[in-house]
Amino acid sequence: MAFVATDALAGPDRFELEGRPVPETLLNDVVRLLCRHRSVRSYRPDPLPEGVLEVLVTAAQSASTSRHFQAYSIVAVQDPERKKRLAELSNNGFVADAPLVLVFCPDLHRLEAVSRRQGYEFAERGMDMFLQAVVDTALAAQNAAIAAESLGLGICYIGGIRDAVVEVAELLRLPPRTFALFAMTVGYPAGPTHVRPRLPMDVVLHRETYSDDKLEEGLRRYDEITAASGIYARRAAPEDGGEPRLYGWCEHTARRLARPHPKRAGLRRQLEELGWEFYTGPGRQREELGAGPQTVLAGYSSAAGGSASPWGVGYAGRGASGPGMLRYAVPGPGSGDAPAPRAAAYLSTSWNPCRKYFEKIRKRIRIGSVRITLAAYNPPG
Ligand SMILES: Cc1cc2nc3c(=O)[nH]c(=O)nc-3n(C[C@H](O)[C@H](O)[C@H](O)COP(=O)(O)O)c2cc1C
Repeated sequence: MAFVATDALAGPDRFELEGRPVPETLLNDVVRLLCRHRSVRSYRPDPLPEGVLEVLVTAAQSASTSRHFQAYSIVAVQDPERKKRLAELSNNGFVADAPLVLVFCPDLHRLEAVSRRQGYEFAERGMDMFLQAVVDTALAAQNAAIAAESLGLGICYIGGIRDAVVEVAELLRLPPRTFALFAMTVGYPAGPTHVRPRLPMDVVLHRETYSDDKLEEGLRRYDEITAASGIYARRAAPEDGGEPRLYGWCEHTARRLARPHPKRAGLRRQLEELGWEFYTGPGRQREELGAGPQTVLAGYSSAAGGSASPWGVGYAGRGASGPGMLRYAVPGPGSGDAPAPRAAAYLSTSWNPCRKYFEKIRKRIRIGSVRITLAAYNPPG
């Protein structure tokens, strides 16, 4: 079956819209489909044909995946109440109207379960695993998007769900070490949509080495195109010495970058609350010990002048180590290390529950003969 031609992909593709030259021999159906993408934010109520969900997920699962880890899960939401809640939490009203909402979740929970099942420690879970899981998730999602568009459906990514990442995790009953990276609405478009102009290619494509030589001219051209396109029609152009400046992509983008996203400034903390870790210490081994009602982070930094650093120690409630966890690392290349007894004293006096956990560490690594580095996990702030 050929791609389904509908309103979802009507109008000029990117080659036509932006006058990009392309040899006829390189223009096949797949390339055309990709270059006709546009986000769809208004849907007909028609249900999706039987089997569409499974086709989209099969396409998603066919994407390349880092180390074959397949570090993502997809939650398909069709229940009207749950869609409505996702619409509210994401501040994207149209989410409630889409017949299908796919929520794409980086997932280390399953990998941890596999490690445990096989009797191994789950130690590979720092910043790079976060990146791998996020990249895997995005690649899977984009495959699903293309599959949907090839079937005449429209899609829109919804990063807005990260405005309420903890609430969305609760709503979808996500286990620890997963989170909702973005959702994707899927359905038949209610009306015509258009391809949005992108930055000129010579601003994005660098040959052999990076160069800003074409940047200014490219931005000037792009601003004119985007201002004339009407996508920012309702935005007020700023006055600059009496002359209204052009309201195009540059102004729009720079305004949005002028302050941190008010609802996402605490995202890292929230992800830590959901069990994600961003530990990137060089060459450190880590262990997770104990389980209690509180998160306890232990900190030591050689930069702090050789004493156990106050940040992190006794920091409770949420943090890099996830609920109920205390972590430490044995010395590795480049890491600072503290005389264990001193660190022990610091821990046991500054945060009482630490003593319990520290006793466990003691037993495990024979304190006294080994110098412990209490890892510089995630200083607060
Ligand atoms: C990760 C991601 C998150 C997005 N989040 C939202 C969103 O919350 N709401 C929305 O209306 N569009 C969202 N979009 C769609 C973008 O606004 C859209 O892709 C961009 O403006 C370019 O338009 P086009 O997709 O029509 O070419 C998102 C896109 C991506 C890739």
